[in-house]
Formats: sequence, C-alpha cells, structure tokens
Amino acid sequence: MTDAIQSMLNEHRTFPPADNAAAHIPSMQAYRDLRQRFDEDMEGTWGQLAKEHLIWKTPFLRVLNAEKAPFFRWFEDGEMNISENCLDRHVDAGLGERTAIIWEGEPGDVRRISYRELLADVCRAANALKKLGVEYGDRVVIYMPMIPEAAVAMLACARIGATHSVVFGAFSAQALRERVEDAGAKIIITADGGWRRGEVHALKPSVDEALLQGCSSIRHVLVVRRGGNDVEMQAGRDIEWHEALAVQQDQCEAVSCPSEHPLLILYTSGSTGKPKGIVHTSAGYLLWARLTMQWVFDFHPESDVFWCTADIGWITGHTYSVYGPLACGGTTLMYEGVPTHPDPGRLWKICSDHSVTIFYTAPTAIRALIRAGDEWPKAHDLSSLRVLGTVGEPINPEAWMWYHKVIGKERCPIVDTWWQTETGGHMISPLPFATPTKPGSATKPLPGIFTEVVDGDGKTMMPDQGGLLVITKPWPSMLRGIWGDDARYVETYWKKFDGRYYFAGDGARCDTDGYFWIMGRVDDVLNVAGHRLGTMEIESALVSHKAVAEAAVVGRPDEIKGESICAFVVLKQEANNDLKAELKAHVAKEIGPIAKPDDIRFADNLPKTRSGKIMRRLLRDIAAGRDIQQDMSTLEDHRVIEQLQS
Ligand code: WT7
Repeated sequence: MTDAIQSMLNEHRTFPPADNAAAHIPSMQAYRDLRQRFDEDMEGTWGQLAKEHLIWKTPFLRVLNAEKAPFFRWFEDGEMNISENCLDRHVDAGLGERTAIIWEGEPGDVRRISYRELLADVCRAANALKKLGVEYGDRVVIYMPMIPEAAVAMLACARIGATHSVVFGAFSAQALRERVEDAGAKIIITADGGWRRGEVHALKPSVDEALLQGCSSIRHVLVVRRGGNDVEMQAGRDIEWHEALAVQQDQCEAVSCPSEHPLLILYTSGSTGKPKGIVHTSAGYLLWARLTMQWVFDFHPESDVFWCTADIGWITGHTYSVYGPLACGGTTLMYEGVPTHPDPGRLWKICSDHSVTIFYTAPTAIRALIRAGDEWPKAHDLSSLRVLGTVGEPINPEAWMWYHKVIGKERCPIVDTWWQTETGGHMISPLPFATPTKPGSATKPLPGIFTEVVDGDGKTMMPDQGGLLVITKPWPSMLRGIWGDDARYVETYWKKFDGRYYFAGDGARCDTDGYFWIMGRVDDVLNVAGHRLGTMEIESALVSHKAVAEAAVVGRPDEIKGESICAFVVLKQEANNDLKAELKAHVAKEIGPIAKPDDIRFADNLPKTRSGKIMRRLLRDIAAGRDIQQDMSTLEDHRVIEQLQS
C-alpha cells in the first residue's frame, strides 16, 4: 500500500458544499431527485435530456439499443452535427460576438476568438479538408501544439463527418506512425512547432519521419505556422494551412450525422499490446460533455471563463477544453506552454489576467506548484475563481487541502472527478454546490451513472472494503469500441464480469456514506504525472534496443508525479556508464519523453517463479525500497534480488 493510499484511509474530514441558489444543481436534495428520475426511468430520462440539450437534424425515437450489448447504441435513429451544436447554434441565438476561445501563447501573445469568427474558421477549414479529398467517414490525424487551430481542426472534421484522432504532440514519430496506420488516416494536420519552456519544439520533422515508412493512407499534410521554425515542405504532399484556408469560403454545410457516427478515436494504453484506439461517437458523447459542464462545474456560459489545463492530446482536453464548453456556448481558455514558464506563477497569472472562474487541472501539477512555494499564488489576484477541479489520478489529502486553502481561499468547492478516456466524461464527482466533500474522495456517481465496488465475481463489497470499480449500466458517452478490434473491446472491458458490468481497471473502496475512494489501477497500467502508460509498451520499447535481452517495468511511488517508471533490464552485453542514458533516449524515441524510465537497474536475471512468470509485485517492492513481504520460495534464483536492490 502506498503512503498516499494510507493517508486516504485515515482521512475523515468533511467540507460542506458552498451555498449557491443559482447553481444548476443547488442542493443534495436536487441531486437525489435527479438520480431518482434515472432510477425510475433511465431511458426516458436520458431521452428527455437529449431532446432538451442538443439540436437535432432528425429527432430520435429510440433512446437505447442494447440488442448487441456490449455494443450499445444511443439515440441511433437521430441525426445531428457536433460542430453545429457547438457553433451555429450559439451564433443563431445572437451570441456570435461572445468569446469562444481565449488563447494565450507561451511567449505571452493572446488571441480572443468569438463564436462568429470560430464558425467562419471552422467552415474554411472544413472546405479546405473537402478540397483535399477528405470525405464523410475518413480519418484525420491531428498532431498539434495547444493552439486554437487544433480546436478548429477538430470542429472542421466534425462538420463534414470525418473522424479525428488527436495524437499528443510530445509523442514520438514512431508512436505517431503506429496511430496513423492503425486509424488509416488520409490527412495529418500539424504545425511547424509550438512553444515549450521558452523554446520552439518542432513537430513537422516528426511527421516527416513518421511518413518515411508505411503510412500509405496519407495523402496530404496540412501545416499551421506557429513556431516560425524552418520546415521542409514536400511538394504535392505538404500544404500550408493558412494558404489553404485563405481561398475558402467561410460557409460550409454541417452534414447530418447519425448519432452513432464516430466523432473521434483516441489512443490510450492498456495492460497488453499496442495502444488501443478508443472510439467515441457523436450525440451521446456531446450530450454528456454538455451536461457534466453544467452539473459538475456549474458552468454558466454568460459569465464564466473556464480553464482546463489539459492538452488536447488527451480526452480531458477533448471533452473539457473543446466540446463541453463550446456545446454550452461559453468561453474556454487554452494555454500553449508549460505551467512553470517563465516562473511557477504562470498559471495563477493567467487566472488573474483572464479572470478565470473555473479552473481544472491534475494533482501532479498541484503538487509541483506546492513545492514551488506559496509566494507564487499569493502574488496574483485569484478572486475570480469560484470552482476548482482535479482529474487524472488520486489526489492526496495534503494536496487537496493546499488547493482548498491557498488557491480556493477556503471558499471554492473542489470537484475531484474520476473518469477515463473510455467514459468520455465524468463518472464519479462531487457537485460543487450540493455534495459535501472529503479530501481524496471523488465522492458519488453522477446522476445517470451507476457504479459499484465488487469482488472478482461481481459481488458487491461491504462498505470500506477494497475491490474493483465497475459501472453497472450503459451511459451515453461510453466508448463504443476499440477501432478495428471488437474482440479486444469485449475482452478488456466486459469479459471479466460476463458482460454484466463495465470493468474500469481501477481498484476502489466505497465508505459507509457511499463515497468512492479510488485506489489506482489494478492492471499493469502506470499513471505517471496523470499520463497513462502501459508497462508492456515500455518493455517492448526497451527490448527493441540491441543491447537489451529482457526488461520488466514497474511503477514506484513518486511525491510529485504520483508514480515514476522503474525498469529492470537484462543486457546482452556488458553494462557501461552511457547505456542507461542511451536506453532512456531510446524509449523517448520509440514512445515519447513521457515514457522515459526514471530509474534503470541492470541484472543478470529477472526474478521469476518456477513457471517462468516475472514476479512483478516483488519488483515493485524493490523499486520502492520497501521490505519484501512476499513469499519468495517459488523464486528461481535468489541472487538476483541483491543485484536489483543495489
Ligand atoms: C485513469 C484513466 C479522463 C481523465 C484523465 C485520465 C485515473 C482519473 C481520477 C481521479 C483517481 C483517477 C484512473 C483511471 N484517474 N481520474 N479523480 N481519482 N484516479 O484519463 O488517461 O484514460 O486514465 O486515470 O486510474 O482509470 P486516462
């Protein structure tokens, strides 16, 4: 058990919700009433909300089709368009001059884009994509820094019914190639580069490298100019984004998409094999993005400035930087650079400069900023803030208290939101003006979401006993599958409980008040600074180096990052001083810098049972420097332990 989890078990403080009669859900009673509507008539309630909250081109008649469960279909005979729901809808309502995106570049340049301007840009981009041969159902890979054009590209795809797959800009050329090939993308939209830590980080060269081999589906690469760095443009293939858009009209029909049309593919790590392409479809996804903005963040589009610090390379950036706030017709803030540049006050300065009212970030960022010292937030006016949120990993109670006191000045409610790439939006979270909070608990499932903690057979655990977190009923924003691999979808999420429950891969405990405490992954997935990484992916990357015979990767508790990466490596050759650095660089090249092991240890052998299984629990103890508690009688070779401990 890690220290963080131990401290959560000892956590008994409760904080009452803040008062706000004007909140979307202003009391615990209102929360219970809404939940009850779902208890009494789940489908009817979802149907009503979908009619109320989305603009339909063809209204649906059927809410849920579970005939081919776990391949669920929501609102399937209805048709709508995501970009119309995020843009035209608000312009038509007379809100064209409202700011849709406030963007701040790392060097300090600022752009404010109104709904009218954003719609015009999205139409130009959509027309440009069509001109380049992108058709309904085609896949478009977006490999970009955090610049407004990334959001424009996503919405342009949605407008013409192309499926976007955003690849995080810090992933390597190799990782990009794998995703482009798996998705069979026709176009890559990228940028010359973007700003990070005061320097331009080039992106286009990675695209060029990815396209050197394979990727035969790619016809064109659209290049946004942002970094100003020199890039090579391959004649016929590579096209300047600004030139392509400049010649297009600022109107483009939003195609009518069936509710189940795939909006996006987002690759995420699992415990086995290559990253899986999580598929989200249209109506259900957008409905939940909009509802959770209102329920969980109490978003009021006329007065709030919402800032989610996640990169659009992750689901958090998709749902809460782009689709959620825009579906509500509100203002979303995007920041290009790193939180600590030029100094650790950057995030707080942005909050103050743009009067941010709702701020959403990851515990790892909070912990890093705690370490930087209270003088940074104290130097900025944070009085505009009214709701704070966290996501991505369990938040330790100490970090929660700091967020509450130093950032929220004890007046802003904190919403600790548990969800996953697969769930599309929040699943378990406090409601800021209804739910009493306990530091470290994501509290209760949202109305319409049914979660439980069960044992390996699916039996509900007694309060306070740890078990597996499951979702027991389908929900509109659930993943619809893994791109091109139906069998893996069933195997990964549904097989464990015979198709009855969605298995999240997390351990959890539910206390006597019905509050959920998430205890982290129960599979071989690491959560490093809020980034999800499969141990097997990193092991494969290591083994692809010529000096490596065998590798085992485990997580180790880390004060800032939550978990850090520890690799145990058996070499084919003599170890030398440079090899550790070389292996780290090799992993960065294969996957990306986020997957670089923090610690590499060489040994002649890995600890294995007599049947040849690597003893991972033992390795985790060794990595953490803990006493080994495991029975080692099955261990083949006892000498390896001493080697690995040093
Ligand atoms: C995993 C999903 C969509 C959120 C961003 C990460 C962990 C997420 C919490 C939380 C404890 C959390 C879980 C989950 N996680 N939020 N509030 N408390 N753990 O999305 O990359 O798909 O990772 O992140 O382990 O399974 P992701």
